[in-house]
This record gives sequence, structure tokens and C-alpha cells, in this order.
Amino acid sequence: MNADEVRRRLEFYRDLGVKQIYRRAPRPAPAAEADPAAPASGDSLAAIRLDIGDCRRCRLHEGRSKIVFGSGNEQARLVFVGEGPGADEDAQGVPFVGRAGQLLTQMIEGTARKEGIPLTRADVYICNVVKCRPPGNRTPEPDEAEICGQFLSRQLEVIRPAAICALGSTAAKYLLNTREGVTRLRGGWHQWRGIPVMVTYHPSYLLRPYNQNAKREAWEDLKKVLHFVFD
Ligand code: URA
Repeated sequence: MNADEVRRRLEFYRDLGVKQIYRRAPRPAPAAEADPAAPASGDSLAAIRLDIGDCRRCRLHEGRSKIVFGSGNEQARLVFVGEGPGADEDAQGVPFVGRAGQLLTQMIEGTARKEGIPLTRADVYICNVVKCRPPGNRTPEPDEAEICGQFLSRQLEVIRPAAICALGSTAAKYLLNTREGVTRLRGGWHQWRGIPVMVTYHPSYLLRPYNQNAKREAWEDLKKVLHFVFD
């Protein structure tokens, strides 16, 4: 079952009034059938989505409509990590589908096209530090990022992409455990558990009309990431 199927199944249970869902421990594969390429822990995106369930681990569940788990290629070589869902994402259950999301899609596909790299949004994986919309789109509190971030970490461990692009300071802070701002972090490589991380500006920041310089820098960052991953 992929993540969308799991989500639909969970929504179906929710509509039936089911409040608690338990996951059976996975049955170990017989030695002869074990896939050597599978992650050692046996974790999967579907299992992570099941573990999230109808999450009430932090206060963000109070205002959400839909949990926004992540979307895209589950074997992506490149993962984008944002902050948390906004109104459009909360309504649709899909990350980066509002104005900032449209800009992100344009940036990914436009930069790839210009650089001669055959890549669409569907080829990458996109997710957030927190999976429920913070009220009024406020920045997630550190405890919310910490609680929900454990699921992000599991997603990244399962995918183990060739590179991660952190969009904005919430993603950068969580992944790099730093208090440094995006302006200082962007443009160079960092690491998350051995995976190269590029930090760049959040697309919402780039939508503000007076941030033209930042826009140019973000395109440079993205170019660097795309060449690193796909050349
Ligand atoms: N901003 C984010 O950080 N994530 C989304 O999914 C949408 C907007």
C-alpha cells in the first residue's frame, strides 16, 4: 500500500468513527526472500503513515483538517523539506499546493529545464517538518517540531535520498540542529545523518516583492542541488 492508499484507508476508518488504529508488528520475511536493498529496520513510508494515525500528539491537531504526510516519488534522489502545511495544503492533504507550492514547482521544473535535466515535481519527494497546519500559519513551536520531526526523520531514513533541500529556517533548524539563519546557511553543503543538505529560502519568503535578490540566490542554490544529484 502506498502513502495515498494508506491515507484513504485511514480517512475511511475515521468516517466510520474508528478512533484508534494499531499496527501489527511486521512479519519477518523468510531469509530466502529478504530484500538486501530494503532498509535494515524494515521501516516504510506506509508504516510511518500508519504510526501517525489520527495523531493527537501535539496541539496542532486541534485546528487541522487533514494531516499532510508528504507526496512524490518514494524512491526520490532529492527530497524537499518545508515548514508545515498552509491553508491549501490543510484542505487538500498535499504539501506545497498553494501559492508557495506553485512557486516551488516552477522553481524545480524551470531550473531543471534550463539546466537540461529531465525532472518534474513528481520525480522528487516533498514533505514538511510538521504535518498539521499551525494556526494562522505561525511558525511551529520547538516542541511541535520535535514531536512531529521524528516522523520526518523516519521518512528521510526510509528514502535516504542523494540530497535534501531544506526550505527556510524551520527545516534548517530541525535538520541541522542549529540556530544559524538561512542567509548564513544557504549556498553551501551541510549534512543530515550523512546525507548532503542544501539550505535555501522558503518559497513564501520569495513571494514577497522586495526579495528579488533572495530569489536569484534561491535559483543558484537549486541549480547546485540539481547538478549535484542528477549529473
Ligand atoms: N509551506 C510549507 O512550508 N509547506 C507547505 O506544504 C506549504 C507551504
